[in-house]
Amino acid sequence: MSGIVGYIGKMQAYPFLIEGLYKLEYRGYDSAGVAVQCPDGLKIIKTKGEISNLEEKVGKNLLAGNAGFGHLRWATHGKPSEINAHPHRACSDDFALVHNGIIENYLQLRQWLESEGHRFISETDTEVLAHLIEHYYRGDLLESVQEAIKKVTGSFALVAGVRGEKDRLICARKDAPLMIGLGENENYISSDFAALLPHTRKIHILEDMETALITASAVKIFNSDCTVLQKKAQQINWDVTSAEKSGYEHFMLKEIMEQPQALRDTMRGRLLDGGKKIDLSSELNFTTQEIKDFAKVFIVACGTAYHAGLVGKYLMEKILRLPVEVDVASEFRYRDPLLCENTLVIVISQSGETADTLAALRLARERGHKILAITNVVGSSVAREAGRVLFTYAGPEIAVASTKAYLTQLLALYMLTYYFAQERNLLEQKQLEKAGESLFNLPAQVETILDREKEIPKMADYLSRWENAYFIGRNMDFAVALEGALKLKEISYIHAEAYAAGELKHGTLALVVEGIPVMALATQNAVLDKSLSNIKEIKARGGYVHCFAQEGSEALQNEVDSIFYLPPAEDVFLPVLAVIPLQLLAYYTAVARGCPIDNPRNLTKSITVE
Ligand code: M6R
Repeated sequence: MSGIVGYIGKMQAYPFLIEGLYKLEYRGYDSAGVAVQCPDGLKIIKTKGEISNLEEKVGKNLLAGNAGFGHLRWATHGKPSEINAHPHRACSDDFALVHNGIIENYLQLRQWLESEGHRFISETDTEVLAHLIEHYYRGDLLESVQEAIKKVTGSFALVAGVRGEKDRLICARKDAPLMIGLGENENYISSDFAALLPHTRKIHILEDMETALITASAVKIFNSDCTVLQKKAQQINWDVTSAEKSGYEHFMLKEIMEQPQALRDTMRGRLLDGGKKIDLSSELNFTTQEIKDFAKVFIVACGTAYHAGLVGKYLMEKILRLPVEVDVASEFRYRDPLLCENTLVIVISQSGETADTLAALRLARERGHKILAITNVVGSSVAREAGRVLFTYAGPEIAVASTKAYLTQLLALYMLTYYFAQERNLLEQKQLEKAGESLFNLPAQVETILDREKEIPKMADYLSRWENAYFIGRNMDFAVALEGALKLKEISYIHAEAYAAGELKHGTLALVVEGIPVMALATQNAVLDKSLSNIKEIKARGGYVHCFAQEGSEALQNEVDSIFYLPPAEDVFLPVLAVIPLQLLAYYTAVARGCPIDNPRNLTKSITVE
């Protein structure tokens, strides 16, 4: 989730660009850069790290010019570095471009462009776009952008400029946000409202496959057939703080709502042909023999990432029939773990900087094991040290409570499992295709759950009045219950515990008193009868049961106090769906209790100390 800003008009462009970059800072970044149409050419200045580094580098360099654009990079392809930072040039210094998104077919395009004589200097997918635009350039930047975007698959929001057309900037978008703010003899571009609102409230939000030609005095928007559209700008009345959160009150809710997109971004280029094929070969770089030789999997992580690992255990043991051990990193590193030969160690970390996880990774590496990291941050310590990485593309997660990172970690584990199943010849082609299609459908199913957000506050209102709560589930539901309880604890400060439902009668049932809220996950149809018995045990002692089950499990309806139905799917995929109402429940409970949701007490986003 990089950030883009642009300006063309009567004023100098650079002051808006730098101010706009600061406004988009919350989106997360690892490098920053600007391009300005100066009298002696299109000048680019960029740096790794803070925006203040960029300001320092620009220093007394006069970036004088009335048109320009800037970028904050959150690395996806290629580590954070000055060369990989945007803006990117093509072969000639005349072109510059900033881009947010992922170009899926960049390798093929790069090979083709290289065969046509283009020279690449960065590791990014974005540079391909710059060369592609240069390749099609015949004196009209708009036409060459329109031509170029037809050749790419993936997502993009881009702004391009060329030295010979100082009076215009060209934008395009597909599956990544881009908007144009209208001023008086000046126009602005940004990835989101935050950078625009201090200057204008009249805003065009570009739609997929639209391109725009922007001059100081006019904005022309074209559809995918290159026909001019008569679009009316929207009047946006948000304040700047809500704009950063896309109008949501908290980053956590915004991030919960971003989950369908985060899933789509994480499956992009990996789940092909509607899910019929899973290809992770180029990223993982394991030979089929290496995959066949794995005798055990050891997953190590902390907190929410550990809970994702627990889902991974159920999944891998079921599908791969391989023993899987999961450990919290702080235990793993000090307990002299037994790692037999041919153990694959998977470390999971959103930030890639968690000290315990990093130490666990180093321990496994010292012992000579193959390591695979699942992380959300390109260039993080975990990504650099693991050797092999399956990145999640959740974009920066700002709320301390992890939501979209967890969901994309689950997706990464599912894709990995089915990819391994394919390489180990464990499933027939039809079964693989079915699984792939189920994964491919998940974002839409998550959307249908999010559309029913309004059902949650009522449940949350009840829960918010208690100081203790329980979460129960069997099989994969137990792993999800642990995550549901953690979410509730960390943001609402309610003491919440999760139990394997069958374990209650071994002690915890003594705590069930009249009215106590119990969140019962009963999504695993294979053990539905057993879950129902556990629910009855709780009801018999006066517990108040909120149930989460697949549509079609009507037998539960009369046994519980409230029920949230999830879209039906094979049991194995339910964790991705079941966690959504639990995230919303934690969120609305914390809202009802007036808690500081994005920054809960005593916690920080990334724990880089022991
Ligand atoms: O960045 P990491 O995934 O390594 O972080 C691990 C935990 O600190 C993190 O998941 C934590 O548990 C979250 N705050 C939970 O919402």
